[in-house]
Amino acid sequence: MTNIPTIQPDATPAEILRTGIEAAKGPVSLACSFSMEDVAIIDIAHEAGITMGVFALDTGRLNEETYEVADALVERYRMKIDWYFPRHDDVERLERADGLFSFRESLDKRHACCAIRKVEPLGRALQGLSGWVTGMRREQSVTRSDLRGIELDHLNNGIIKINPLLEWTEQDLIAYTEEKRLPVNRLYSQGYRSIGCAPCTRTVKPGEDARAGRWWWENPEHKECGLHRR
Ligand code: ADX
Ligand code: SF4
Repeated sequence: MTNIPTIQPDATPAEILRTGIEAAKGPVSLACSFSMEDVAIIDIAHEAGITMGVFALDTGRLNEETYEVADALVERYRMKIDWYFPRHDDVERLERADGLFSFRESLDKRHACCAIRKVEPLGRALQGLSGWVTGMRREQSVTRSDLRGIELDHLNNGIIKINPLLEWTEQDLIAYTEEKRLPVNRLYSQGYRSIGCAPCTRTVKPGEDARAGRWWWENPEHKECGLHRR
């Protein structure tokens, strides 16, 4: 079984990334949703000369603005993105049986949609990998408060999972993004603070927490899509 290396509390994202990749002892890829977090990780890796793959899960319900960020990244870093799509027969069955907005009807139906559009493609994306990287941060939600910089992903064959930005605040992220003039999803300037699928994401009001606009009809402790169950 892979050992999880110890990381110092003041480790930088680049150090967490490098340590995690070394511990994985095999191929590692970033799961990229084109959020500010994921773009910052791509830039940090690029600056530090760290090599990793990048994959994205195209759920079929993403915003146009999200694809624009993908294009800007390919242009800026001359990088390759491995896109994964849901299985078309599963989507066809879901939409024919339950319609286009079944995820609003119940938590079970929302999980069913995320299972088809996100979790199943994630399983394929992780095949053959020894580790994966995410842009999750501890302060994002109650479901992420006990996040670790490097952990074993027991739901995905025990491979290494690396969360290099776990201790960054939203302010740290914005400062880095502005300083480096990184490509940013235009939706952030319209009041979005966390961006997922278009029909399950909305803007956040002043005073609300950053993920309040995700699955806004659900309680905070349910706001995970299945990619990061622990
Ligand atoms: S989530 O609930 O949608 O997973 P969030 O949008 O906060 O939450 O994303 C957290 C991390 O999950 C991202 O930084 C990224 O690593 C990964 N992720 C989320 N959505 C996708 C996606 N569509 N494709 C690839 N990775 C994703
Ligand atoms: Fe379906 Fe919404 Fe989950 Fe996207 S976030 S997979 S549209 S339920």
